[in-house]
Amino acid sequence: MGNFKNKTIYQIYVRSFKDSNGDGIGDIRGIIEKLNYLRRLGVDYLWLTPIFTSPQNDNGYDVADYLNVDPLFGNMADLEELIQKAGEKGIGIMLDMVFNHTSTKHEWFKRAMAGEEEFLNYYIFKGGSPDTPPTNWKSKFGGPAWAYVENLNKYYLHLFDETQADLNWGNPAVRENLKNVIRFWKQKGIKGFRFDVINLISKPEVFEMDFEGDGRRFYTDGPLVHEYIKELVRDTGIIDMVTVGEMSSTSLENCIKYSNPAEEELSMCFNFHHLKIDYKDQDKWQVIPPDIEKLKGLFEAWQIGMQKTDGWNALFWCNHDQPRIVSRLGDDKAYRVVSAKMLATSIHLMRGTPYIYQGEELGMTNAYFTDISQYQDIESHNYYKIMLSQGKSSSEALKIIGLRSRDNSRTPMQWSDEEYAGFSKNKPWISLLDNYKSINAENGLNDDNSIFAYYQKLIRLRKEKAVISEGGIEFILPNTKNLLAYRRYLGPEEIIALNNFSNKEIIIGQDFKGYKAILGNYESPLNGGQTLRAFEAVVLEKQ
Ligand code: GLC
Ligand code: CA
Repeated sequence: MGNFKNKTIYQIYVRSFKDSNGDGIGDIRGIIEKLNYLRRLGVDYLWLTPIFTSPQNDNGYDVADYLNVDPLFGNMADLEELIQKAGEKGIGIMLDMVFNHTSTKHEWFKRAMAGEEEFLNYYIFKGGSPDTPPTNWKSKFGGPAWAYVENLNKYYLHLFDETQADLNWGNPAVRENLKNVIRFWKQKGIKGFRFDVINLISKPEVFEMDFEGDGRRFYTDGPLVHEYIKELVRDTGIIDMVTVGEMSSTSLENCIKYSNPAEEELSMCFNFHHLKIDYKDQDKWQVIPPDIEKLKGLFEAWQIGMQKTDGWNALFWCNHDQPRIVSRLGDDKAYRVVSAKMLATSIHLMRGTPYIYQGEELGMTNAYFTDISQYQDIESHNYYKIMLSQGKSSSEALKIIGLRSRDNSRTPMQWSDEEYAGFSKNKPWISLLDNYKSINAENGLNDDNSIFAYYQKLIRLRKEKAVISEGGIEFILPNTKNLLAYRRYLGPEEIIALNNFSNKEIIIGQDFKGYKAILGNYESPLNGGQTLRAFEAVVLEKQ
């Protein structure tokens, strides 16, 4: 297994990171321009969201050719230059492998549509008549999961958009082709991979109706998923690279298996349970206040569960599918800076590998769009229509979209207070946030107390202290409301992280004698951490 325990990974949503040629869309050369910034931050790997040829219906998660770069983002020479220049700075490039489905513009799908038997078998086609789909499963983007093709008199499965057709991993030719994709990029010098919704690749033998849910229980962590991952990893020789699987609605049990080194599957997993603590009945479109006690319980269950079994977590709050954490669990008005730092502290010192999503290190906020036309995301538009059809008013629907839309994290990276936030010379593909005049990278770099500077410290601490990267974890003071507290230990080394998730003072009532504060988001920690102010985080080290 590769060494990833003391590393930090930075996610780049390419189209919103930096535009080098003025078309309003971020690109590979834009990333090259910003390598020094990334080196200053101190991150070890860059995970790039898909840069492959794509009709961009789901911003590149609909791949039409896995072996080429979409001209929107540059060309192969640009990518090779990025790999090389990043490598010179000690930064590895990770690519995003979207292997559960392809775009319906992929050559394989086109040949299937032409009725070629060999390629029909690359996807999941089932017979049916125009009004009776094979099952009642729902797409994760809303609407049915089956699309009818008239001239074939068949349906194909799409767990996401209709233009994202699910691949048939039961077909060895599909698996072999996907291995060739990995081999190709590995030979280009790519250092790691993120596997998009990889726990959905194994579909059941028989397709049944789901009278309880949307069908996910039949294909999530499906029957042969572990075999398929093992085979892919073994046959492409990527066991020593950094690999992370995105696991949709998964279980701890399965994630232990995906990430336990003895299983020879992946380095680590993303799971999303901790980001559903403000969903009612697990439904993203029903908003409730976040349940912090539930959050604490989930962290504890996953951290301890993984530790006991030698599994490994990816630690993250933000990505291109999630609203900004400072707007969600912090306070992006009165306590923006402290709450952003507390949220960072709370996960960076846990057992696992931390991820930073572009702009998180600046405390970038939600989009606060006011009109549906400002949204670009296919999912937001689908659900807006669904909510209207369910009888919600447009302002009610907009309010929910405002809290939940994936576009919250997709607004252009705020580099400076120049026009278009220094992201582009021209109007960006998606609206910029008004707050870029004050929230931007230039300000972050010029202030020793910035959120950026704080992330630098967290990244450095993980490298300096084996207790963070290698130590055990134990949760403490679980009954103190709104406090997430844990102890890390390794031989005589010990650190404690105390995080106040509320805007009220917390009295801890415990004496941390013999400990010294080594990091905090207020100028000086009160009483060695006995009282925590609004959103205060304190890190104590045993002397
Ligand atoms: C993952 C991606 C998301 C994409 C979906 C379908 O969840 O993170 O952006 O829409 O998979 O590929
Ligand atoms: Ca561009």
